[in-house]
Amino acid sequence: MNTNNIFILSIESSCDDTSAAVLQNQKVLSNITASQKVHQLYGGVVPELASRAHEQNIVPVIQQALEQSGITKEQLSAIAFTRGPGLMGSLLVGTSFAKSLALGLSIPLIEVNHMQGHILAHFIENEKHKRPTFPFLALTISGGHTQIIQVNDYFSMTLLGETQDDAVGEAFDKTAKILGLPYPGGPLIDLYAQQGNPTAFSFPKPNVEGLNFSFSGLKTSILYFIQKKTQENPTFIEENLPDICASVQNTIIEIIMLKLRKAVAQTGITQIAIGGGVSANSGIRNALNNEEKYGWTTFIPRFEYCTDNAAMIGIAAYFKYLQKDFASMDITAQARMMIDKS
Ligand code: KG4
Ligand code: ZN
Repeated sequence: MNTNNIFILSIESSCDDTSAAVLQNQKVLSNITASQKVHQLYGGVVPELASRAHEQNIVPVIQQALEQSGITKEQLSAIAFTRGPGLMGSLLVGTSFAKSLALGLSIPLIEVNHMQGHILAHFIENEKHKRPTFPFLALTISGGHTQIIQVNDYFSMTLLGETQDDAVGEAFDKTAKILGLPYPGGPLIDLYAQQGNPTAFSFPKPNVEGLNFSFSGLKTSILYFIQKKTQENPTFIEENLPDICASVQNTIIEIIMLKLRKAVAQTGITQIAIGGGVSANSGIRNALNNEEKYGWTTFIPRFEYCTDNAAMIGIAAYFKYLQKDFASMDITAQARMMIDKS
């Protein structure tokens, strides 16, 4: 097997982003993502609309990814796709497309676990970013997931803790909705928070066992707090928006940092690699940088590789290609998938 120049076309369609990428070994030649605007109207992802939009987007997105890479279909070594976890209808679009393409081109098919993709994104070739070494801890925070994982090797990962209810991105987005901000509200909360006082208001932190998280109680307490305050003063939100955002963000960050510190103490591992859309949050970045004083090393991929994207699926597939870990043609999408299952 010639492993000098492996060209992989990868497809990600697990939630509301249709993405295709072409990688040459660990280098990204193209990474094209069509984000679905249709969900903004509903304040969250509507599964049926997501799968329909994937069907519309998948051909142009793949075509664009190939064009931008300068690689022809005939040069491809393998086709990779996200098998799960995610929304079933959305996953099916990428899975079926990848299978047909691999079959038509008579090249191997590689299945990728979306969560492993988020973590392996740290190994994308990029001269400006340092890479973690095994073992390290991964914190994956997005609108769909909140997990702390011990990463022992490319495909040897152990889940240490995860959310029992809402993901951290949902905590941001639901708070934003309560405050009347548009979806997805995470980036706006971050923006307002930068002008506010993080200790202006205090919210209860959940008491969850071990390294697990819970954010639904926080959402409810924010809702009750806002309802009470706006009854007393109808312009409470307008008058206090930066302080409310800073206080909510501060609470969320404290919850995350508490668990991370616990994970570091428990494992003795001080390399922290973050991923997922919420890793764009300026407060969480500051908090992590702050810990570097105490000996932590933090790794943050480029933002386009933090949010859902096909390049992270391509890099995971590259390591599987080296191991000749190919999928059979009767493979199906899987809505639920554990991190330790590759
Ligand atoms: O990874 P992602 O693009 O998609 C998935 O959910 O899988 O993450 C999107 C989430 C949304 O909840 C969005 O509000 C949140 O990431 N987000 C942020 C920030 N940027 C994106 N949350 C807080 N602060 C930000 N700067
Ligand atoms: Zn994701």
